[in-house]
Amino acid sequence: MAVSVICIAAALAVLVPGARGLDRRADFPPGFLFGAGTSSYQIEGAYLEDNKSLNNWDVYTHTQSGRIMDGRNGDVADDHYHRYADDVEIMHNLGVNSYRFSISWARILPRGRLGEVNSAGIAFYNRLIDALLQKGIQPFVTLNHFDLPHELDTRYGGWLGGGIREEFEYYSNVCFKAFGDRVRFWTTFNEPNMNTKLQFMLGVYPPNRCSPPFGDCSGGDSHREPYTAVHNVLLSHAAAVRNYKTNYQAKQGGSIGIVIAMKWYEPLTNSTEDVRAARRAQSFEVEWILDPIFFGDYPREMREILSSNLPNFTSEEKNLLLLNKVDFIGLNHYTTIYAKDCIYSPCELSTYESNALVYATSGNPQIGKPTALGGYYVVPEGMEPAVMYVNHRYKDATIYITENGYSQHGSTNMADLMNDVERVNYLQGYLTYLSSAIRKGANVGGYFVWSLVDNFEWSFGYTIKFGLYHVDFTTQERTARMSAKWYRGFLTGSSQLTDDEAQEPLRRADS
Ligand code: BGC
Repeated sequence: MAVSVICIAAALAVLVPGARGLDRRADFPPGFLFGAGTSSYQIEGAYLEDNKSLNNWDVYTHTQSGRIMDGRNGDVADDHYHRYADDVEIMHNLGVNSYRFSISWARILPRGRLGEVNSAGIAFYNRLIDALLQKGIQPFVTLNHFDLPHELDTRYGGWLGGGIREEFEYYSNVCFKAFGDRVRFWTTFNEPNMNTKLQFMLGVYPPNRCSPPFGDCSGGDSHREPYTAVHNVLLSHAAAVRNYKTNYQAKQGGSIGIVIAMKWYEPLTNSTEDVRAARRAQSFEVEWILDPIFFGDYPREMREILSSNLPNFTSEEKNLLLLNKVDFIGLNHYTTIYAKDCIYSPCELSTYESNALVYATSGNPQIGKPTALGGYYVVPEGMEPAVMYVNHRYKDATIYITENGYSQHGSTNMADLMNDVERVNYLQGYLTYLSSAIRKGANVGGYFVWSLVDNFEWSFGYTIKFGLYHVDFTTQERTARMSAKWYRGFLTGSSQLTDDEAQEPLRRADS
């Protein structure tokens, strides 16, 4: 398999630079969604405005700023709360037909289900949704992208406490009721697999819980808590899907899914052990979340390795899951990495894949060019097997690539930050292999670049740039990068932005 990647890589090297591989929207099926994504905490700002309450990330960035690379927070971020209309204009110029964003739970229900619905929060998302639809842009809405009201976080221990399930069901119901007449695409959770591992295994996201050898947190159990948290997420998800399907879907005509993080794992060597390790890593990444949703239980490998640390579903819970399948699966795919077996050979067992008894490595030579985000390499050809794998295993569901994007170091000089040739090559390469998967029969409905604009990149603060648009965080000016112009050319079929347009910073919301 490792060999096949290398052959495809060689083919791609011929395809991508010089850009004559795939470069037209028309190479994708009719009705395909093409968009860009963001999430509420990463861009909205207005962190205490119009009755919004504090969420877990507000509290974390204020009380533990030392854990954020530049010590900063999302208090203002991209000020999207006030500049959303200009941001919709940017999307319109870009030519996207969909926009993926998330709703801030603390803006809608500042005190959870025991408090009032915040009408100002509802009004904000109504304005955003209406502005999008006026421009022919479909809202693709995530209900939960890492942030939850601080009060619920303390009351339930976040996703560790079973009580959070009722809270999520209540919150999602408020959203379906308020926005579902106009929203055709709902997702319950963004990347519960990655989020819970960062929260409860590695302890690097709030509430920073972990245990040795993963880390030295003040509390936590890395061997148990990630699985408890995901169990609660899955049951929250299923309850929300049941409610949507029973009470809303027929009259609103939308669809509902879930988004997972998905790397592609290639075996480090052709040994049976490494081949099995790659398969096992995938199972602990993808099947952990999707098998319960499609088949009613966790995968066998996980049960064998984790035994009683992995919770059990009651038969009632299995039915809840099985009777309320998703309409689609969102995949956030950025990279491919080599998997090395740790059952038959010694490894450091304190990293992201350790629970699967796998060590992930970039290999030597490296599997692809590194990006600003550690552990993320440019391996466009990994898109195809990733999509084919999910398509094959979960046959009924349409797949959306809900995130795919390239990160630059903020310290890069301005000219290179703007002339982001690497991002153009990255996007074009990944789209080439996505289209190849579609030609081979994969059922894919859309693709979203991460991200529309530079934003608050969690533990990295503002030090890492993912945007098609550069954002000056002092003036809030958004400026199209070369990649934005390339995407527009790809989407509209017309030439790229004119030189004048490209040079002129986009109108500021406050001017
Ligand atoms: C998350 C985004 C994040 C991106 C880049 C994904 O894991 O959903 O919120 O900004 O990756 O790190």
